[in-house]
Amino acid sequence: MKYEAVIFDLDGVICHTDEYHYLAWKKVADELNIYFDEKINNQLRGVSRMDSLEIILRSYPKQLTQEEKIHYTQIKNQYYCELLQSMAPEDECEEVKDTLQKIKNKGILMAIGSSSKNAKFILQRIGLMDYFTAISDGNNITHSKPNPEVFLKASDYLGVNPTACLVVEDAKVGIEAALSGNMDCAALGDAKNHPQATYKLNSFSDLLQILT
Ligand code: BG6
Ligand code: MG
Repeated sequence: MKYEAVIFDLDGVICHTDEYHYLAWKKVADELNIYFDEKINNQLRGVSRMDSLEIILRSYPKQLTQEEKIHYTQIKNQYYCELLQSMAPEDECEEVKDTLQKIKNKGILMAIGSSSKNAKFILQRIGLMDYFTAISDGNNITHSKPNPEVFLKASDYLGVNPTACLVVEDAKVGIEAALSGNMDCAALGDAKNHPQATYKLNSFSDLLQILT
């Protein structure tokens, strides 16, 4: 078997919280009267909360103070967490659950490699925590994707060499992070636009064809 472990991004890969990130940032952008659309939102995939705000502020004519920036990231997280409250195990996609179970049955280890500080809360809400041997997230990193830190920490927690790990991502910066950490990567959604993705998946369950 080429891969001993799979490291999954969370938002937009395991669950549809990428839509909630979009809705929460849209509310903040509307309050600030800043134009915001799906294309700009794609640039926020995989990027930390503060870096996301900096990207949104690129078209803002005024300079915000550090305190104001902290305020808007807090407001965004508040809107986001309100949306997370509606999540429940029964809403989680059957295809994802079924694929995770089949990967587990093959004896392949699984971890989360996410920039989010809400990762554990989300995994608890959707009832998938037990599939993952290790969680590397926004709370244990100092550099967000495209830096490979979050994935290298995940491989370290699992005790698996990076070259034996496969990363699954929906963010272009996540593909860059995997490659610069010496890991192969499988792209979903917007990440498929990255020319160097090792594999491009049409659907989550396509992973099973790679992990034969
Ligand atoms: C990533 C998302 O998973 O986590 C980004 O793709 C988000 O959009 C980042 O900004 C940080 O998330 P959180 O939950 O800590 O604000
Ligand atoms: Mg993502």
